[in-house]
Amino acid sequence: MDKLRIRGGQPLHGSITVSGAKNAALPLLAATLLAPGTHTLHNVPDLRDTRTMLQLLQIMGATWERDGSTVQVNTGQLTGAEAPYELVKTMRASVLVLGPLLGRTGYARVSLPGGCAIGARPVDYHLQGFQALGVKSSMKGGYVEVRAQGRLTGGSICFDIPSVTATENLLMAAAKAQGQTVIQNAAKEPEVGNLIDMLAAMGAQIQGKDTDCLTVTGVEELHPSEVRIIADRIEAGTYLMAAGAAGGRLEVKGCDPSHLTVLIDKLRTAGMEIEVKGNCCTASCSVSDNGTPCPLTAVNITTMPYPGFPTDLQAQFMALMSQSSGVSIIHETIFENRFMHVAELQRLGAEIVVEGSRAVVTGLARGQLVGAPVMATDLRASASLVIAGLAASGTTEISRIYHLERGYERLAEKLCRVGAAIEQIPG
Ligand code: UD1
Repeated sequence: MDKLRIRGGQPLHGSITVSGAKNAALPLLAATLLAPGTHTLHNVPDLRDTRTMLQLLQIMGATWERDGSTVQVNTGQLTGAEAPYELVKTMRASVLVLGPLLGRTGYARVSLPGGCAIGARPVDYHLQGFQALGVKSSMKGGYVEVRAQGRLTGGSICFDIPSVTATENLLMAAAKAQGQTVIQNAAKEPEVGNLIDMLAAMGAQIQGKDTDCLTVTGVEELHPSEVRIIADRIEAGTYLMAAGAAGGRLEVKGCDPSHLTVLIDKLRTAGMEIEVKGNCCTASCSVSDNGTPCPLTAVNITTMPYPGFPTDLQAQFMALMSQSSGVSIIHETIFENRFMHVAELQRLGAEIVVEGSRAVVTGLARGQLVGAPVMATDLRASASLVIAGLAASGTTEISRIYHLERGYERLAEKLCRVGAAIEQIPG
């Protein structure tokens, strides 16, 4: 298994273009199941997770073709409605096929995703939502089976917590239901908005985009559409923080800065200079005479549903704060076990104490982290190790980088081009 080897202490200079958002590509690819025909999706990142989703569509009878970042999916003939364990265990977002299959055929069977490295992550909200549309669900042999008698019927649901994929699943199921569906306390993440735009282009009627109350008026028929995946705000944020850790001046192009407002505020408070112009954010962190980046100020964060601080950037922010002067409190409120990266950051010398859902990070002077072999435990934890490795003196070797490949397109290559000393080596 390949590893990443990083020689820290190299400032970043130049520009990186962000790819399409993984978390938008997955629901939008799943949505192609809703309407028979050929759908065209632009800006689809080539990642382990998007390949898994395409494999899943293929198992169900779809065919697809990729030309650069454009993917055409033909869902004219569906031959199956089952997501097997082998795929679901590698990608929890496989549950996203439930909604569109219900909408199209009234039946789906998906292996239960089970626990994962960052917490229990149940699917109860998804099933409660489907139930409100007249769908019956049952569990057997590790699979969840959902079935509707005839056409789904509109209904109302108020989520306890705004769940991203449950909102997306319900939108897709409701698009063809008979009557109106109201989703309250819906997730407002930009990726949900991207899905709403695609569904609208397919002929769906959805009101309330970007708010926590969505109203879907079901239609009888939907048709294929052409859509562009939005830029990956998590990838963009990760690179901004990489510049904060390594120093230098890095332009992050092709992003939507309005999706990064909280992060940009926090980075500015920490002392980084962030310039925003059109679809580009430039992060500067000057380097002092002895070659180390200028100190950062400790800043606290609390993860929250959008537009709050994203849980998917928490691990990276923690790595950055390990290089600040002062004490930073990182409060994780979305997932109960999302501090797996702490033990690995500690191997590099970071001073972090976990107290329940809070991590207390005591910043070290620049260059005080020392490279070591570390292990990636989940996708965003891996990104935090890259950030720490860029800041550390000496060499850091990250193993299990398949986690990173699930969500970052050509990360080593992109960072290398802007001056990082990072290479992928056989494990
Ligand atoms: C999505 C993102 C993931 C991100 C997360 C939170 C995708 C493919 N993944 O995951 O990268 O970290 O949003 O922004 O878009 N919950 C339940 N029951 C449910 C569903 C969720 O209790 O049926 C809870 C979860 O355990 C969690 C909270 O709701 O505490 C929010 O999770 P959710 O928004 O559903 O995360 P995902 O959609 O799985």
